[in-house]
Amino acid sequence: MGKVIAIANQKGGVGKTTTSVNLAAALAILEKKILLIDADPQANATSGLGISVDDKKLGTYELLEHTATIDKTIVKTNVAHLDIIPSHIDLVAIEIELVDKKEREFMLKKALKPVQNQYDYILIDCAPSLGLITLNALTAANSIIIPIQCEYFALAFSYNFKQNVRRRYRTEVRTSVFANFTRGDFTTRS
Ligand SMILES: Nc1ncnc2c1ncn2[C@@H]1O[C@H](COP(=O)(O)OP(=O)(O)O)[C@@H](O)[C@H]1O
Ligand SMILES: [Mg+2]
Repeated sequence: MGKVIAIANQKGGVGKTTTSVNLAAALAILEKKILLIDADPQANATSGLGISVDDKKLGTYELLEHTATIDKTIVKTNVAHLDIIPSHIDLVAIEIELVDKKEREFMLKKALKPVQNQYDYILIDCAPSLGLITLNALTAANSIIIPIQCEYFALAFSYNFKQNVRRRYRTEVRTSVFANFTRGDFTTRS
């Protein structure tokens, strides 16, 4: 059974997509079978892996809505062993459309089941929010990587995040905080 890893942080610009794409590519080079799910309407992981975001394909939106089976949403990338489920800006609408669905936080977890044996790792690049898309990623995940900036508020947030996920969903989820940036990385050097 493939391990599901969500790369999440409520903050934007902390390196979630960079970590997701690079980790996915590195594991694929090690000949692990990888599925990367782009769960951010900004679709940066999708375009980052060379998939066009201009034409609308079946992807994370249909997967979360259960209007397409997962095999129809998987796209091969140019990297051997690395597949992606693409995103599109239309994914923003899912936050409203799922609201009155039963078990709305578990749509992704259920949708992943049929392919979980085909992959070594399923990585989920989350959006910078704690909305329904991210909750779906967190309930599907066996572990969560939280890329952060090295500063006090970021660390305090990641502790609360972990407690909230455990309390609310009672999942035995492992969380790892990954210090991606030091403050200096953000300074413009001339
Ligand atoms: N370790 C790093 N060192 C330097 N720049 C980085 C690093 N990780 C990410 N970046 C840059 O920071 C910006 C935001 O990263 P991104 O992965 O898009 O963040 P997020 O997905 O959390 O919004 C991008 O321009 C990216 O190239
Ligand atoms: Mg991103």
